[in-house]
Amino acid sequence: MMDVSSLKKKVENNIMCGIVGYIGTNKATDILLESLELLEYRGYDSAGVAFCSGKNVQVYKCPNRVAVLKELVKEQKEDAHVGIGHTRWATHGSVSYKNSHPHQVGQVTLVHNGIIENYKELIHTYHLEDQLVSSGDSEVACALLNLFYKKDPMEAIIKTLSVIEGTYALVMIFSDRQEEIYAVRKVSPIVVSENETERMLASDVMPLSRISKEYFTLPEQVILKMSKEGIHLYDFEGHEVEKKKERLDWDIEQMNQQGYPYYMEKEIAEQKEVLQRTLLSYVEDSFPCFEREALTEELFEKSKHLVIVACGTSYHAGLYAKNLFEKIAHLKTDVYLASEFIYQEPVMEEDTLVLVISQSGETIDTLEALRHSKEMGYQTLSIVNVKGSSIAKESDYTLYTYAGPEIAVASTKAYTCQLMVLFLLVYRFAYTRNRFTKEEVQQEIEELKKVPYSVEDIYQRKEEFQECAKEFKDEKDLYMIGRGFDYYILLEAALKMKEVSYIHTEAYASGELKHGPIALIEQDTTVIACLTQKDLVSKASSNMKEVRARGAKVIAFMKPSLEKYLEQKISIILLNDLKDDLMVFPAIVAFQLLAYYVACEKGLNVDKPRNLAKVVTVE
Ligand code: M6R
Repeated sequence: MMDVSSLKKKVENNIMCGIVGYIGTNKATDILLESLELLEYRGYDSAGVAFCSGKNVQVYKCPNRVAVLKELVKEQKEDAHVGIGHTRWATHGSVSYKNSHPHQVGQVTLVHNGIIENYKELIHTYHLEDQLVSSGDSEVACALLNLFYKKDPMEAIIKTLSVIEGTYALVMIFSDRQEEIYAVRKVSPIVVSENETERMLASDVMPLSRISKEYFTLPEQVILKMSKEGIHLYDFEGHEVEKKKERLDWDIEQMNQQGYPYYMEKEIAEQKEVLQRTLLSYVEDSFPCFEREALTEELFEKSKHLVIVACGTSYHAGLYAKNLFEKIAHLKTDVYLASEFIYQEPVMEEDTLVLVISQSGETIDTLEALRHSKEMGYQTLSIVNVKGSSIAKESDYTLYTYAGPEIAVASTKAYTCQLMVLFLLVYRFAYTRNRFTKEEVQQEIEELKKVPYSVEDIYQRKEEFQECAKEFKDEKDLYMIGRGFDYYILLEAALKMKEVSYIHTEAYASGELKHGPIALIEQDTTVIACLTQKDLVSKASSNMKEVRARGAKVIAFMKPSLEKYLEQKISIILLNDLKDDLMVFPAIVAFQLLAYYVACEKGLNVDKPRNLAKVVTVE
């Protein structure tokens, strides 16, 4: 048996930002601002751009969103074709003009995503105090580059990297080489694309699709030089490094709001289509098929224990799936929050398969859990939405969700697509483990094919949830109760409500109420119940009576065919009828819509809730 106590090593730190660089025939400021809008979901505390006017490198920045930066840049009339940009989520250093990027010291203008861990020591060693205006670490890298710059960018970069510790995606312009952009990275991502007249790099593929469908990931510790003439990669000895090109499935059209007031609504609305696409990508002859992804029968046979690791919504998908894997496939399954994984000393054996789930594929805690699992010698499988992301690249096997770009911070379509892939895995394991015959699996797949229609039906009833939201908008606290699968649905429903509407919402397993939480219930407390499981309807009903007896107003989201079992008069939202274990799909879409409309009623920025970022690359 192996244990993972040795995983308790310090995990690398990172920072959450979006960076972009552009050289081309179009106006650089327009492209940079457009790209920063697409990257803003990575962090939106501050934004900035620098572009080359020929005479000097001009910086515009603000401790605010890209929309404000756009106003600032309007006054810029020059026709620049080279520039870099940055959108920041503050970790070290407050949200301020001085801490915003790009930084400029002497000859160097720089944007940085990551953390220079030894920056204080470097300030002291290289006497940089007088050159710095910010309180952060990034400007130190800029000052060092300037110190080491003797007309040779490669030399300055190599010298700087030899003294800094930490993680970085650094993108630089040297003021006497305004036709060139340099970049280098460690851990923090940089992807690159080009066409005949334009070259672009960014933190993720979102902005690249306007340039080309082909892109490549900048390898770690390789220096990129980008100019009008082309893009070259060099190792630290100056040898040219090959670009490993990949193809992007997403296009710019999918990243537009397409007339929806918010991305969150667009993404809720897309679920029929993306669920269909995800399902059909892994089904042949009504049977789950993962051959293209090289998941062999041997892997299903030898995996006797599943350890699922994820964060946030992806963790909730994992929790729901644990019940499926255990009930349906009889496969022992444990689920860990990625941020807790290394401290919990999970007992894993040689036949353990580690399954990591992540929409972005960049969540640092999940990525580190994956890396540690690999170091310990376990087989790793990931379910990821963003193609070419770190988790996708580093797992032994990857199953993509075909949700398309998810831009709203609140995850919606990625969750349902993750569940779709998880259901298929469950049935595949159930077959290998002789719990289901091939015909039985095929019947289950036929049921799964109804899911996209069921979620579309809920979306088409969106006005009902909009009405319902009016009743909730002034709530301070909301409680959600359910048993069995319903409890796991509600964990995700409560997260959606919290993050977009800022209403304090807690989900409880109904049976736990009497062990403490019922003390919170008083006259007119609002309780949302979820009832989709026939076996549990009578107990769930008793729990609703208990809270009503203490003055709670109860509203139940329920499966229509269960209504007849209710003896009490309560407000009801009827979902639609699917097999009990598939009810998560229509139910969660109803809760997504409810959270969305509550946030809209409150006039909040639904897509960019306060304090959050889409990609969490800080532990
Ligand atoms: O990209 P990932 O799936 O790894 O992200 C995990 C969480 O950060 C994410 O699900 C987060 O909880 C969402 N904001 C939830 O809506």
